[in-house]
Amino acid sequence: MSRVVVVGLGYVGLPLAVRAAQAGHRVFGLDLDPAKIEALQAGRTYVEDVTSGELQDVLARGRLDVSTEPAPNMLHFDVGVIVVPTPLRNGEPDLSCVEAAGRTLGRFLRRGGTVVLESTTYPGTTEGLLSEVLEEESGLSAGRDFHLGFSPERIDPGNRVHTLVNTPKLVSATTAAGLTAVEAFYDTVVEQTVPVSNPRTAEITKLFENIQANTNIALINEMAELCRLLDIDVWEVVEASMTKGHSMARWTPGPGVGGHCLPIDPMYLAWLAREELGRPFRFAELAQQVNEERPVLVAERAVELVRSSGGDRVLVLGTAYKPNVGDVRESPAIGVVRELQRRALDVTVVDPHVDRWSLTPVLSLEEMIPSLPNFDLVVLVTDHDDFDYEKVVSEARLVLDCRNAAPASSNVVRL
Ligand SMILES: NC(=O)c1ccc[n+]([C@@H]2O[C@H](COP(=O)([O-])OP(=O)(O)OC[C@H]3O[C@@H](n4cnc5c(N)ncnc54)[C@H](O)[C@@H]3O)[C@@H](O)[C@H]2O)c1
Repeated sequence: MSRVVVVGLGYVGLPLAVRAAQAGHRVFGLDLDPAKIEALQAGRTYVEDVTSGELQDVLARGRLDVSTEPAPNMLHFDVGVIVVPTPLRNGEPDLSCVEAAGRTLGRFLRRGGTVVLESTTYPGTTEGLLSEVLEEESGLSAGRDFHLGFSPERIDPGNRVHTLVNTPKLVSATTAAGLTAVEAFYDTVVEQTVPVSNPRTAEITKLFENIQANTNIALINEMAELCRLLDIDVWEVVEASMTKGHSMARWTPGPGVGGHCLPIDPMYLAWLAREELGRPFRFAELAQQVNEERPVLVAERAVELVRSSGGDRVLVLGTAYKPNVGDVRESPAIGVVRELQRRALDVTVVDPHVDRWSLTPVLSLEEMIPSLPNFDLVVLVTDHDDFDYEKVVSEARLVLDCRNAAPASSNVVRL
């Protein structure tokens, strides 16, 4: 049993904190957001990958404590994990949260302790900025007095097959002894750890994974637009290509990418390449550009369709960035809605997973079906399992399907 501190209890940090508590550690979770801490203390989850029951269980067993403030029970942590946001500010990496979290942990760091960064970032962050702030705050030396490592999170929120526990976890540290400590901790939390030579390798591997996904999505999105202009069904192309059986991966077109990993993280490496090497990372930048164009393209198609029907009322199905989650960060739906509004269309949305949405009026799932005939166009942006696609198609006047989720029908147009 170790005393573990998790700094940042979001989509990544909360599942880790609960899992570490289930694995028998004594966990202290810290988050600056009072609303999150209030919900957790009341036993209410706010991420798909942790149930309220699981949370209540570890709280009741005294395995997990959460707070907005560093507390006395943080004083002697064995392992401190940083899982805070790594956003962009004016297109450049903003590591202020990592720095602040490092300062918090640094104040409580003692000899023999271990600090691990999980936030996605450019290579060099752990051994550079994080090491410096920890040393400054603690007066200790990284690698000599405490262990320091990087272990990227590969969580796919809402994915029931590939979970935190069964997805192999990369582990790294600045020294061999550090690697042993980092590996020993994660071996208690996940089924398999995969050591790599150093934090920079682990940091860039995580970015490579995200960039590969973003680039493949951009490629199929570009293909989709070419196919549309050539009057070829891109979905048939996707399925036909998969019959090859090797060397092909199934990526599908859509309204764009969202969440933290794809639209933001690749820019960390693109920025570093320009800043430190004076050269562009062409694939990362091009993929970004192609995927960013998609929501505008969806809106353009929607405008064409709705105007040809003589109306102006649009219902957007799904605002989350991907199916069956409630996360709207960087969601393509935001770009679609803003673009539709800019073109003076009257937009309403429905998303049973999303709690906070202020851009438009919102319909509940129950209100949706009877309201469908009132809209001139339904734009299916996120293919949640909760939507009854048969009913949507039978009740709606016209559907623009960005995900190939609706059954074929004369009133369904695919993006
Ligand atoms: N969401 C994903 O699917 C995913 C997957 C893999 C990796 N990541 C990476 O993990 C990191 C965290 O992402 P997330 O989705 O969990 O973010 P999130 O916004 O859901 O959660 C981060 C939490 O950190 C808190 N926080 C910020 N600064 C803090 C501080 N100084 N002290 C305490 N708490 C602080 C915020 O209040 C927030 O609750 C990012 O670098 C992201 O790129 C995310």
